[in-house]
Amino acid sequence: MEVPNFLIERSHQVDEALDRLLPGADQRPQSIHQAMRYSTFAGGKRLRPALCLEAGKVAGAADQELIPVACAIEMIHTYSLIHDDLPALDNDDLRRGQLTVHKKFGEAIAILAGDALLTRAFQILSGFDCIPLYSERRLAAMREIACAVGTVNGMIGGQVADLEAEGETISADLLQYIHSSKTGALIRASVRAGAVMGDVSETEIEALTSYGTRIGLAFQIVDDILDRVSSREVLGKTPGKDRSRKKATFPALFGLDDSRRKARSLVDEALRSLEPFGEKADHLRELARFFVERAA
Ligand code: IPE
Ligand code: IPE
Ligand code: MG
Ligand code: MG
Ligand code: MG
Repeated sequence: MEVPNFLIERSHQVDEALDRLLPGADQRPQSIHQAMRYSTFAGGKRLRPALCLEAGKVAGAADQELIPVACAIEMIHTYSLIHDDLPALDNDDLRRGQLTVHKKFGEAIAILAGDALLTRAFQILSGFDCIPLYSERRLAAMREIACAVGTVNGMIGGQVADLEAEGETISADLLQYIHSSKTGALIRASVRAGAVMGDVSETEIEALTSYGTRIGLAFQIVDDILDRVSSREVLGKTPGKDRSRKKATFPALFGLDDSRRKARSLVDEALRSLEPFGEKADHLRELARFFVERAA
């Protein structure tokens, strides 16, 4: 599946704002600002910001208010990738088609660049550098994001369980917990954070949450599949790493075909959750399809 046009436009919009919201590469200490920019501008797909912007649009929020939230999410995602690649975690050399941050700048700067992106994200969410409109809504978005990246059913909890599962035979239930936490939680939060920036009813937020939960899990299943079947050139990371590190993955537990079926059925469920929104959720639908049909 080709990258949808609106996603390309959203990426440009997000890149422009990220450039404005990150400290300049010539700002002291230059090394860390260079590292933060090196990883941020290496060509990520910007899927999480797009989800936030499109869910926000469905809820009637203005782009101007959503953009800082979308950028904060991308900074946190980028931090998670920098740390995920460290020798103490997955020990990867290639990310977004270039050397990982620790390979390029050294481990100390990679750790600190991750910390700095996380900190900058919350600085932005707290209202720094934005027009102080709708501050209660931004606080609600900040809460969504903070909860999603912590240890209880969040990204860090999932990363811990992912590391502890290396080389182990684990249950389907634990595997689903790992994937939903390490990856699914931030994806769901991207949708919810966008939604709470606008006006949504309880029923609408539930429908969007169901959508976000399902595509979040599907996304990591597809990431596992691509690690098996794709190439370095297409992925921009080293394929086959999950097997060599004995990671707990969907293909390892269920095989490729069942993993593909599971991802597709999650996306079908996600699409059904969007039915009440009619046409205005078409971009969210396209994103859901892209999540399973992407090549990288
Ligand atoms: C990769 O995420 C890490 C996972 C959570 C599986 P993406 O595939 O969205 O990475 P980028 O942002 O496009 O590089
Ligand atoms: C990463 O999962 C999840 C994160 C929170 C970063 P993976 O370890 O499978 O991501 P890749 O394959 O390295 O991008
Ligand atoms: Mg990992
Ligand atoms: Mg990894
Ligand atoms: Mg992976």
